[in-house]
Amino acid sequence: MITMNHVSKRFGDGSAAAVDDLSMVVPDGETVALVGPSGCGKTTTMRMINRLIEPTEGRIMVAGEDVRKVDPVQFRRRIGYVIQQVGLFSHMTIAQNIGAVPKLLGWDASKIKRRNEELIELVGLDTSMLSRYPRQLSGGQRQRVGVARALAADPPVLLMDEPFGAIDPIARTRLQNEFRAILRRVKKTVVMVTHDIDEAVRLGDRIAIMRAGKIVQYDTPDTILSRPVDGFVENFVGADRALKRLSLFEARNVMSAPDEAVAKAQVSGDTDLRDALAAMIAADADRVDVVDEGTKVGTLTREAVFAV
Ligand SMILES: Nc1ncnc2c1ncn2[C@@H]1O[C@H](COP(=O)(O)OP(=O)(O)OP(=O)(O)O)[C@@H](O)[C@H]1O
Ligand SMILES: [Mg+2]
Repeated sequence: MITMNHVSKRFGDGSAAAVDDLSMVVPDGETVALVGPSGCGKTTTMRMINRLIEPTEGRIMVAGEDVRKVDPVQFRRRIGYVIQQVGLFSHMTIAQNIGAVPKLLGWDASKIKRRNEELIELVGLDTSMLSRYPRQLSGGQRQRVGVARALAADPPVLLMDEPFGAIDPIARTRLQNEFRAILRRVKKTVVMVTHDIDEAVRLGDRIAIMRAGKIVQYDTPDTILSRPVDGFVENFVGADRALKRLSLFEARNVMSAPDEAVAKAQVSGDTDLRDALAAMIAADADRVDVVDEGTKVGTLTREAVFAV
């Protein structure tokens, strides 16, 4: 669990607080997405959690320890960190980059090599890339290496600053899905920064909307989208928030028992309601059949979609 208690950061040049009396609890095993306009204090908040920045006021606890009282170098090895702008070590190969923390932790070479190969594939890159240097990769490829590096020593806590920002939409969705699958398999406590509210909705168990160093709303994606606390949040999540919210629900959880009629369109049980509604619109139908492995398992009506 990560707890921030009345944390503020002033950068000492007389300017307004970058982070202003911020309190937040990130429960064990949950993913929190920090979103908000540029300069609102997202990166500063993250860097205080792993002590790359010292708070001016307030207290931060990670897994029961006050971060001011731990050895910062040892501590950071237990926290995976994907920095904004990636920040790979340019004089080291991709393999050395990914293996940096495991090496510091004293893993033997063959274990590091196996882990590197596993991770490079996990983020959708070829093992032949391991011998290259960062400058020989595209920006999006470097970013994926950044994610692999943060996961390398399997840390219980991950801090990710716009981890998928430079990746094209298709690879990005795939990587988000893979990341979600990893989190389902291995329990991690994650704080991630993103500019993309869709990404926050897809990956966050909770979303913190920040503005000028403060959290304006900290809630589940469902609540943020259905009950934004003010005009700022409403604006930030977008006019299509009702549609975005539909992406949180799967057809199989909203469908009714299969009826006799054959609908003009089909979706699978794991289709989200936003896509299911799109399928209805495309087929000019007010219902779709829900079909899993060739068998109709239910009927999803437009009324049921509108009622969630
Ligand atoms: N080392 C520093 N010295 C002085 N001011 C700083 C420093 N680092 C950040 N700031 C200021 O603190 C504020 C918050 O910066 P921060 O990097 O946390 O924003 P952010 O929300 O991550 O923005 P972005 O979305 O652009 O990455 C900004 O006004 C920034 O100019
Ligand atoms: Mg930032």
